[in-house]
Amino acid sequence: MTQINFDSLTTGKPIQVDVDGKQVCVARVGDEVFAVSNICTHSHAELSDGEVKGFVIECWLHGADFDLRTGAAVTLPATEALETFQVDRSGNVLTISPKTKEM
Ligand code: FES
Repeated sequence: MTQINFDSLTTGKPIQVDVDGKQVCVARVGDEVFAVSNICTHSHAELSDGEVKGFVIECWLHGADFDLRTGAAVTLPATEALETFQVDRSGNVLTISPKTKEM
């Protein structure tokens, strides 16, 4: 898991953090924060360099859109969903951790 400050995030400016050895893109949308894999499922572009539009992040390389809430690929050329991560907020502190797999 990784902790960052909510105040350090700006809407529309996603950042990359490391969570247990994985590159994770953290994006703030208003008062909500989402964490998804930072690596586009189409190729190897970093989504933290992409553009956030509402609840969608657009890969800068070929323009695939992903829903930050679910990780789903919503436009081509990506077809595979991004892994999503758990975000827990306590005051100004955000804890980002892998989601526990459902049995
Ligand atoms: S690498 Fe992201 S859309 Fe191609």
